[in-house]
Amino acid sequence: MEFGRALSQARNWMEKTVNKGETVVDATAGNGHDTLFLAGLVGAEGTVYAFDIQQEALDSTAERLGGADARIRLILDSHAEAKSYVEGPVGGAMFNLGFLPNNGDRSVVTRPESTVQAIHSLLGLLKTGGLITVCVYDGHEGGGAERDALLEYAARLHESEVHAARYELLNQTGRPPFLIVFEKKKEFSEPRMIG
Ligand SMILES: C[S@@+](CC[C@H](N)C(=O)[O-])C[C@H]1O[C@@H](n2cnc3c(N)ncnc32)[C@H](O)[C@@H]1O
Repeated sequence: MEFGRALSQARNWMEKTVNKGETVVDATAGNGHDTLFLAGLVGAEGTVYAFDIQQEALDSTAERLGGADARIRLILDSHAEAKSYVEGPVGGAMFNLGFLPNNGDRSVVTRPESTVQAIHSLLGLLKTGGLITVCVYDGHEGGGAERDALLEYAARLHESEVHAARYELLNQTGRPPFLIVFEKKKEFSEPRMIG
């Protein structure tokens, strides 16, 4: 078993659980790396919904996609509204939190309430056995509050419905991201919360 960095480990898990032809979600399109990756996983018969609140990010994603095969829907709206756009079942979803890298506006960041709302909605749409991977950065302003909100949310999910795990490399320099991964264990339309 190879211990990948957070982003590559998220991809490893997606590769194991997403099938050709499925519908998947890139909740934070950014520069489109994960959208392109997901498009490759689902192939020509699959659909990728990619959300971002910045047109600049969707333009960058569209440019990266070039001739990608999958049906791709680029959506200029918050991932918190996923339910209004996405038809389930969803084979998997990826979040890469924080701000748009490479000269993006660093004041536009993912926020605790909308991130949690999006995960909550997508858990309902997810196939049984599907994963939601969330790459969490806590080094920027507001990142710590988002991390705490996510960990608190994850701990309140009922264990018979969802397994929530944290994955991180402990001996990395700087402030590397870590992953929170949600696995849907059985069918439900809205997760039950404890407490
Ligand atoms: C770290 S970047 C994503 C990087 C991307 N996965 C890639 O491969 O390049 C985070 C992105 O989330 C976007 N974002 C922030 N709040 C959002 C929201 N509520 N809904 C959707 N996207 C959001 C930002 O605009 C930014 O482009």
